[in-house]
Amino acid sequence: MGFFYSQVFVRPSYPTQSFDGQTVLITGANVGLGLEAARHVVRLGAARVILGVRNVPAGKAAKEDIEASTGRPGVCEVWEVDLASHSSTLAFGDRIAQLPRLDAAILNAALATRTFQVAEGYERTITVNVINTLLLGLLILPRLKATGQEFPSSQPRLAFVVSEVHAWAHFTEWKDTDKPMQLLSDPEKAKMPERYPMSKLLEVLLVQELAGRTRGSDVIITMVNPGLCHSSLAREAGWQLAVMKLVLARSTEVGGRTLVAGISTGIEGHGAYMTDSTVDNASLSPFVRSEDGRPAREKLWKELSAILEPVRPGIMQTI
Ligand SMILES: NC(=O)c1ccc[n+]([C@@H]2O[C@H](COP(=O)([O-])OP(=O)(O)OC[C@H]3O[C@@H](n4cnc5c(N)ncnc54)[C@H](OP(=O)(O)O)[C@@H]3O)[C@@H](O)[C@H]2O)c1
Repeated sequence: MGFFYSQVFVRPSYPTQSFDGQTVLITGANVGLGLEAARHVVRLGAARVILGVRNVPAGKAAKEDIEASTGRPGVCEVWEVDLASHSSTLAFGDRIAQLPRLDAAILNAALATRTFQVAEGYERTITVNVINTLLLGLLILPRLKATGQEFPSSQPRLAFVVSEVHAWAHFTEWKDTDKPMQLLSDPEKAKMPERYPMSKLLEVLLVQELAGRTRGSDVIITMVNPGLCHSSLAREAGWQLAVMKLVLARSTEVGGRTLVAGISTGIEGHGAYMTDSTVDNASLSPFVRSEDGRPAREKLWKELSAILEPVRPGIMQTI
């Protein structure tokens, strides 16, 4: 019921917080919610906005579109990143780490597909939406933290874009194995119709764990649920969702507002789930809030550490 109420009656407020002089990163910013969030942040005065995209011509078109609508040329920069690839994610994260400052980041890029493909040894949705999204978060955390120390007026923030559909996934696998993401990447066992919600559940659990481990590090880490919005995400989802979207979906611009809220909240937002642009941990799924939530996320963190340690030795010690 909360979903229908939000979609019909709640309109997240128009962002007004100043980003004057700040540097902001947004992944997947060539289309959809990422593009609209970037437009807001440029409008609100950011000095430098990095559009992290895998399709550079589409990123350049987004940059021109933002410049035309905001009248602020020279703010956006298009940087290439393919989250299906460890080496591309590492190169991008290392480039971000060289920025003179990084005040906020929205890790928004994701895919939803029913086609099973492997990327870097894991099912592609798990690699893009979970493993390499967390890898990128870990790579940029030191730069965010340092920005808070070097620029006293800056409050660094890192937002992960998740979804309320995390509640649709049945994550029984966590009890069956020490390596749930490996099990989910078995082509014989993968339930691809449930894969996107599952990827968002894994992301929620891992971001909770990350936030718990970085409490007191001066970087506010949030999870944002934009609600159902118009975008190109559900291109494979079929006519039923298309009809539902016609009736219930928020505009892409309104969805973009919720992402900006994720990098505008105060310390109460650290480790929190935000829906309708406000902190609302009670809207996390019953599983995430249950007694099983904690051991499940600890097991996932251990598996993530084992995956990422060979990719970038020492990465888990950066937090
Ligand atoms: N729209 C909704 O109703 C809704 C609801 C809840 C949560 N969300 C979340 O909101 C976020 C944005 O989604 P959206 O609705 O705006 O979808 P979208 O229009 O499909 O945008 C997704 C973005 O992610 C990028 N991306 C996909 N795979 C990538 C990869 N391997 N490397 C780098 N970038 C990649 C896409 O790039 P390409 O253009 O090159 O494909 C695109 O820029 C996602 O995290 C999604 O889960 C959306």
